Amino acid sequence: MGKSILAIDQGTTSTRALVFAADRRVIATAQQEFAQHYPADGWVEHDPEDIWRDTLATARGALAEAGLAPGEIATIGITNQRETVVLWDRATGAPLHRAIVWQDRRTAAVCAELHAAGHEAMVQAKTGLLLDPYFSATKLAWLLDTIPGARERAERGELAFGTIDTFLLWRLTEGRSHKTDVTNASRTLLFDIHAQRWCPDLLALFRIPAAVLPEVCDSAADFGTTTLLGGEIPITGIAGDQQAALVGQSCFAPGQAKITYGTGGFMLLNTGERPVASGARLLTTVAYRIDGTAHYALEGSLFVAGAAIKWLRDGLGIIVAARQTQEMAARLPDNGGVYMVPAFVGLGAPHWCTEARGMLTGLTFDSGPAHIARAALESVAFQTADLVAAMQRDGAGALAALRVDGGMAANDWFCQFLADILDISVERPANLETTALGAAMLAAHAVGAWAGVLDSAAGTEGLTRFTPAMGAAERARLVGEWQAAIRRATLA
Ligand code: G3P
Repeated sequence: MGKSILAIDQGTTSTRALVFAADRRVIATAQQEFAQHYPADGWVEHDPEDIWRDTLATARGALAEAGLAPGEIATIGITNQRETVVLWDRATGAPLHRAIVWQDRRTAAVCAELHAAGHEAMVQAKTGLLLDPYFSATKLAWLLDTIPGARERAERGELAFGTIDTFLLWRLTEGRSHKTDVTNASRTLLFDIHAQRWCPDLLALFRIPAAVLPEVCDSAADFGTTTLLGGEIPITGIAGDQQAALVGQSCFAPGQAKITYGTGGFMLLNTGERPVASGARLLTTVAYRIDGTAHYALEGSLFVAGAAIKWLRDGLGIIVAARQTQEMAARLPDNGGVYMVPAFVGLGAPHWCTEARGMLTGLTFDSGPAHIARAALESVAFQTADLVAAMQRDGAGALAALRVDGGMAANDWFCQFLADILDISVERPANLETTALGAAMLAAHAVGAWAGVLDSAAGTEGLTRFTPAMGAAERARLVGEWQAAIRRATLA
């Protein structure tokens, strides 16, 4: 058996395939962006056929670039945008509708009604989540209620539901495998994270027929085999992308945390075999389940991280490339009292303020583009500090370090400022492809391809450490000024 592993990383805006060698080096990659559909205000859809076409094309492309025959690929790992819903016909494999994406808010009113009817406490106790359209259940119910005949067909067992991992697995195995992993299941609002099974009470509440559901497996498991990439290759790892990044960062010990900065930012703190219920409106979620043992995480999400830098480029036009922000911020002796609250789409955890809107405060005639760029970078660090504080309120204890990945993690000035504001070390791996790596590691574990792959020490080579260098008084002053800006944005 070969030792190389193919990872499929199906994200919100692009589909990627990467081939990893046994030393975890990336030896080939292929990537394809795909169309976003916005059929109404707050609605976001993807065409599952686009996703499938790009998955096949990028997987075949990466294998060709690696110059490996299918027999040299030990196994496949899949990681994916979470919560996004696909409903398809079991007989033909054809989707009944475009996928409803995690960002889609069309079921906000349904969630508000369920909330008003007093269901959130039960939902939060069983799933660790909140009653929010972000998660899958109300989206799936919307499809069953809206597509003529779908509910009856679902009840007769003719339809299959899946998050993106499950849909891709179904297609890769040509309908032989209708499975998901526990991390993806834990984002649906239908899965009891304590009992580790689909929950009849939740299925009743959201009116979902059990016949549409996939089988839930460990994150490292026998998910099936595909013959569509040349030879016969097993698929043995699946995890939602944020959980996969936690694995890719080797955050296996309780108290270890990572944050991935993409458009938004997702922070996960490993709480070990103990699910920690949040009093600070964070999410309790399954980090991974390996060899039958579930490990849990506290999760906090920022709606805007890299999107603030994109706005500097595409909205304001004060930069042409994200990397310029590093030099602009570094050139200033201080932030000049300028703060950005990047509440372009409201604020996520821990503020959860839908009505808040973006703000720039403290502008004077001395303020220029560099101040605004620096304020954007600083705002992402301050928001991260708010998440860390919320996790500590939830009893997570002091963090020893925070591991970072994703686009903004490449910015040295940002990483140093983050360490200064958090007053803990910020650790950046040499390989920022942690999401795909996590999927590959899970798949490797299942077939024994990479020895010791899930040892916590294994992932710590090549870390760049940013250690706090700011004085306590300065930190307190900056955090205080940020909090004043946040108060104003959430009052508006
Ligand atoms: O929960 C949504 C998250 O999984 C999306 O991640 O990287 O595809 O934007 P990404």
